[in-house]
Amino acid sequence: MCNIKDLEKIVDIARITFDDTFRASNTEENMNAYMDSSFSKNKLTEELKNEESEFYFAYLNDSLIGYFKINTGRAQTEDFDNSYLELERFYLLKEFKGQNFGKQILEKVVNLARGKNVKYIWLGVWEKNYRALKFYGKNGFTKFGEHFFIMGRDKQVDHLMKLSL
Ligand SMILES: CC(C)(COP(=O)(O)OP(=O)(O)OC[C@H]1O[C@@H](n2cnc3c(N)ncnc32)[C@H](O)[C@@H]1OP(=O)(O)O)[C@@H](O)C(=O)NCCC(=O)NCCS
Repeated sequence: MCNIKDLEKIVDIARITFDDTFRASNTEENMNAYMDSSFSKNKLTEELKNEESEFYFAYLNDSLIGYFKINTGRAQTEDFDNSYLELERFYLLKEFKGQNFGKQILEKVVNLARGKNVKYIWLGVWEKNYRALKFYGKNGFTKFGEHFFIMGRDKQVDHLMKLSL
């Protein structure tokens, strides 16, 4: 699990992976607005200090290849009870996509969730993030709703998906 000493690495990998994933399908203005507010040192320090949130890095040998963030209780971005755990962020660096690392990291998330005695893992995924939608579907997640995600001035629809443990 990451701690405050990892702040700079988290800021870097959060910005790089978000940019790689969404730059091509969003305006520069909306991307910058979102990244400046969500991936600032202050915002990520707050999130790291939240006892109901945890960040983890994924390493291949000694190289950092991705990261994820989970939320429980009141740290969840929607009002779900303690039987739910949110996988709020899950990102591989682009050169490590498509090599089955996503599935291996998801197994780690499932084990963490089981250890916390929750019944479901849930997440919000952009309706146009076709790769991630396919990945989660293949790994047992099913759609159970939608919510809005505000990216700068763009109000985007996310599919809410969950996995029963
Ligand atoms: C989502 C993610 C963690 C999955 O990990 P991964 O190990 O790369 O898994 P893949 O993306 O290769 O696997 C998903 C499936 O999507 C398919 N896929 C790849 N590119 C695709 C595309 N452009 N459109 C639709 N499907 C695609 C793959 O072929 C694979 O299916 P297959 O096993 O039948 O071949 C990883 O791709 C990632 O970090 N993506 C960017 C960040 C992101 O979108 N995170 C989720 C935010 S909610």
